[in-house]
Amino acid sequence: MANVSLVNVEKTYPNGFQAVKRFNLDIRDGEFIIFVGPSGCGKSTTMRMIAGLEEISSGELWIDGQLANFLEPGQRELSMVFQNYALYPYMSVYENMAFGLRVHKVERSEIDRKVRETARMLQIDHLLDRRPAALSGGQKQRVAIGSVLVREPKLLLMDEPLSNLDAKLRSQMREELAKIHRRFSSTIVYVTHDQVEAMTLADRIVVMKEGEIQQIASPNEIYNNPVNQFVAGFIGSPSMNFLPVRSGVENGNYFLQAGESRLAIPALLAKRIKDQGGFGKELILGIRPEDLHRKKEMSESAGQTGGELQMKVMVREGLGAEVLLHGEIAGENACVKLDPSCGTRPGETIALVPDMTKIKLFDAQTGENLLYLSLKR
Ligand SMILES: Nc1ncnc2c1ncn2[C@@H]1O[C@H](COP(=O)(O)OP(=O)(O)O)[C@@H](O)[C@H]1O
Ligand SMILES: [Mg+2]
Repeated sequence: MANVSLVNVEKTYPNGFQAVKRFNLDIRDGEFIIFVGPSGCGKSTTMRMIAGLEEISSGELWIDGQLANFLEPGQRELSMVFQNYALYPYMSVYENMAFGLRVHKVERSEIDRKVRETARMLQIDHLLDRRPAALSGGQKQRVAIGSVLVREPKLLLMDEPLSNLDAKLRSQMREELAKIHRRFSSTIVYVTHDQVEAMTLADRIVVMKEGEIQQIASPNEIYNNPVNQFVAGFIGSPSMNFLPVRSGVENGNYFLQAGESRLAIPALLAKRIKDQGGFGKELILGIRPEDLHRKKEMSESAGQTGGELQMKVMVREGLGAEVLLHGEIAGENACVKLDPSCGTRPGETIALVPDMTKIKLFDAQTGENLLYLSLKR
């Protein structure tokens, strides 16, 4: 159980490179926080400053109400799991997991109970007698996580703990981490460049780019209400489609023009765009692959008959439960997610109707989402 606050935390490396800028975040007790962003955006640097492995250049780090900038790592009562986990090669799995508790002079029967219980939860209880050399990569990683969890750290820091695992194991471990978080009440700070991990595990996601926080919000909010084009494009798979559009008004009707296609803007949306000064600016229309629908599948009464987009289909990707069509809309790469019953083949051109209630509009210059809802909390 721990709460952590970072106040205007910055990191400038000795070579003058500023890796983290004005980082502000309050992590609540028991929260699962995930830092996500492209490689090199400062995730590990921030994590290492929390751990005490990297000096904080300026700003304050508070752990449980105590200023922690100058505490040694060992005084911070936290545990870390890295991508390159370390196990003692000459100790059995059991001994590896028990080691931290032995060092802290925990009673033998208590150690035994904790190790076995944690091993059961991580499904490594049948491996307790083995040496690390006799384990697969995934099993080693579980042991590494297990040897941290037995100590029930109040603050658990994990830097890309799953990135060495294959896809199947990664998704299993994702589920296990979610369970672990429900079982233990540890506060978890977790770093990944994998937006799927972020979306499935986090209570709140911190999206970073070039050392700066772009947005802090729940997965749901990040997905539906991204603050800018970067966040919108980074979160979601396949990514959101982006089309340069011109906005205008004709006979009192507002529209977006993408190439040859014209989309009518519903009145309420037009008002919001107007309030944001969006008309007359260069805009980027953002629409997720699942928010584009086949024209013939739309009923006229759906209230979304305000125009369509032509897509030239180049690749069809059948995924079983859905089909992805990749191609071009108004000269831009685009992707649409449709029902597998759709028989469209590469080479065809299809008419797609965007769900205008789901669209995003970005200022082409700043990337800012004009339709971002700033929520009071
Ligand atoms: N010791 C260092 N000296 C100078 N620059 C560094 C050092 N460590 C990391 N960096 C740079 O800081 C930036 C952020 O690195 P890092 O926090 O590791 O990114 P991430 O974990 O998001 O991939 C990168 O551009 C990296 O090259
Ligand atoms: Mg890193």
